[in-house]
Parts: sequence; structure tokens; C-alpha cells
Amino acid sequence: RVFEDRDEGSKFVATEIAALIKEKNKLDKYTVLGLATGSSPLLLYKELIRIHKEEGLSFKNVITFNLDEYYPMNPVDAQSYNKFMHENLFSHIDIKPENVNIPDGTIPMGEMDAYCRSYDNKINSLGGLDIQVLGIGRTGHIGFNEPGSQISDGTRMVYLNDITREDAAKDFGGKENVPRTAITMGVKTIMKANKVFLMGWGENKAPIVKEATEGLVTGEVPASFLQNHDDVLFVLDKGAASRL
Ligand code: GLP
Repeated sequence: RVFEDRDEGSKFVATEIAALIKEKNKLDKYTVLGLATGSSPLLLYKELIRIHKEEGLSFKNVITFNLDEYYPMNPVDAQSYNKFMHENLFSHIDIKPENVNIPDGTIPMGEMDAYCRSYDNKINSLGGLDIQVLGIGRTGHIGFNEPGSQISDGTRMVYLNDITREDAAKDFGGKENVPRTAITMGVKTIMKANKVFLMGWGENKAPIVKEATEGLVTGEVPASFLQNHDDVLFVLDKGAASRL
């Protein structure tokens, strides 16, 4: 779906998410959200904060799972996704701290596999994700599922693609400071979400949006796996949709 601009697109996704939370709140049920970082969801989070403050939407029954985190990464560091999420969403709403899940960039390597399995198990034990929010990287990555990812991949430690590290260089004061590894939720968990919104803004996303939506379904463009999801919507502005 193509919107006039990122503001309108973000408001649309926020309204959809708010409607589900309201419905579930009425039934006294949890809403399980998969969340993303990066610039793409920033206006969505702003709008959710506005809906919370001005319309009284409560996040007390919301449980969140973030897609990814750099590894190694201390949650208090400026570049951590943990810090990003608290600054841009969690500290402005009434979500319970124990309901926030973000991959832990301080997990010792020896505990990594068990930790990743427990992340997936926790999501599955709650019945999976109601809604997954995604951005898209220039490599076609979703979360940090880089080219070469498979549909059967669960949460795991991954190596970051060179282009991804280049794109992150500005946040780290140079590519040499960007971690080489990260922890990411897998394609398998994302594909099991009931509903997926992938947000893409601006012309620099146009080539990869075209490949992901009109190209072959392949692990070389992990976002293309979404073509096989039953309820996925690419929420785009005119720039990101300009090559379709
Ligand atoms: C990072 C994140 C992704 C995100 C991507 C795009 O690599 N791990 O989850 O989708 O960047 O970032 P942006 O939204 O800033 O374009």
C-alpha cells in the first residue's frame, strides 16, 4: 500500500496496532508485538505514544519482542537497540518492564544457543506474535537476517553484511567500530507472526523493495520470504514504491 508520505503510512500502522491492543484489552488478553529499530519505525512509535497520551491507550497488557541487537553490546551504550527502544517508545508508555524483551547483547558466547532457543520458546509459549513490525535493510535483510538466511532459521547469532555495517557506520563513528555480529530473531519466527507490516520510506529503499516484492523468493533477499506470508502488508511512501 502506497501512502503520500511516511507520516501517513506510519499513522496507518499505528492505528492498526492500537485497534488490536484496544480489542485485546477489552477481552483482558495480551497483545504480543514484534518490534523493529532503525529509522523506519520512528514515526510509528511517536504516533503510538501520542495515542497513549491523548487517547489513553494502555500498554499494560502488551508484551513486546524486539527483532535484534548488536553483539556484543552493552544495553546502556548509545548504539544499543535496547537504549533506542527505551528512548523512542518504552519510557513514554505504561508498558511493564517485565513485558519488554530485547535480545541481550551481553550473553556469554557459551550460553548463546540456549539463550536464542529460550527467546523463541518464550514467543511460542505466548502463542506467537500478533503483529510483527519490520523495516528493510538495503541488503534485503529483515531484523538482521542477512542474505544467506533460510526460512527455517530461528533466533541466532549472525554475521553482519558489509553493506549493513557501512549503513551503521554513522551511528558508530566509523565502520571499523560497527560490531561484526548480532543476535536476530529468525525468519521462521517472523513468518509465524499473524500479521506483518514492513515499512519502507524513501527512494533509496526502492530497488530492494522491488526485489523483495516482485523478485524471486530467495534467501539471498530474505524479505522476499514474506511473499509467502498470508497476511503481510508493505507500507510504503511514494519514493520507496517508485520502482514497482
Ligand atoms: C537495521 C535493523 C533492521 C532495520 C534496518 C533498516 O539493520 N537491524 O531491523 O530494518 O536497519 O534501517 P532503517 O529503518 O534505518 O532504514
